[in-house]
Amino acid sequence: MMIVLESVDKWYNRGEVNEVHALKDIDLQVRETEIVCIRGPSGSGKSTLLSIIGCLFVPTSGLALLDGIKLSRLPDRFLTVYRREKIGFIFQRFQLIPELSVMANVTLPLVPLGISPGERERRADRLLERLDIQHRKRFPAAEISGGELQRTAIARALINDPPVILADEPTAHLDTSLSLAFMEIMGELRQGGKTIVITSHDPLVFGHALIDRCLSMRDGSLAGHTETGSHDP
Ligand SMILES: Nc1ncnc2c1ncn2[C@@H]1O[C@H](COP(=O)(O)OP(=O)(O)OP(=O)(O)O)[C@@H](O)[C@H]1O
Ligand SMILES: [Mg+2]
Repeated sequence: MMIVLESVDKWYNRGEVNEVHALKDIDLQVRETEIVCIRGPSGSGKSTLLSIIGCLFVPTSGLALLDGIKLSRLPDRFLTVYRREKIGFIFQRFQLIPELSVMANVTLPLVPLGISPGERERRADRLLERLDIQHRKRFPAAEISGGELQRTAIARALINDPPVILADEPTAHLDTSLSLAFMEIMGELRQGGKTIVITSHDPLVFGHALIDRCLSMRDGSLAGHTETGSHDP
């Protein structure tokens, strides 16, 4: 899917003492089969930007479009369904349900689709094996490590096979070999036609050959388009 942001501004708590101008006049286009990385200091607006692409909230002003569809014009109910079908979001803070097992967390996005429990588990098993976390699948999320939580969050985001993958600091808790495995999965997904946006401080990610473009965020603005990867679409 094609992602387009046009003159996007995002304010939090506008007019209040705690107001933050988190995104300032952002223009961005990400093509299908492109992997774009966004770097930038803490608090520069990276997660906010991903949240707008991911339909978690609408811009204060400006336009966000997915395949030409204006997200801010969609009614909330439609937006929820749209998000569920189109977006795989790997949250910086995981957003898993602590009481549920790894398996239950990962298969949750498949429940509304009416897929049988057996098929749900088969799909999850493949991802959990790939992410080397199969041995924890019956553990509640509350009882696994940071890196295991991150891998569970990655599996949950990918289980629906969504066309858009938004990964917020996806390797922050992973070691080198798991981080490289994550990038390898991203490479395969790109081959399958996905559109991928990753925020990262991790040189293993932003310096990876699979990254087509690395953009810098600073104080709510996007700058510095650097071509880093070798991918030629
Ligand atoms: N829900 C919110 N309400 C108010 N302000 C917020 C909210 N979420 C983020 N902010 C503020 O908006 C700015 C951008 O936050 P954001 O989380 O997008 O930054 P980030 O680049 O992802 O940072 P990090 O690298 O630490 O994850 C920060 O100043 C933050 O304090
Ligand atoms: Mg963030």
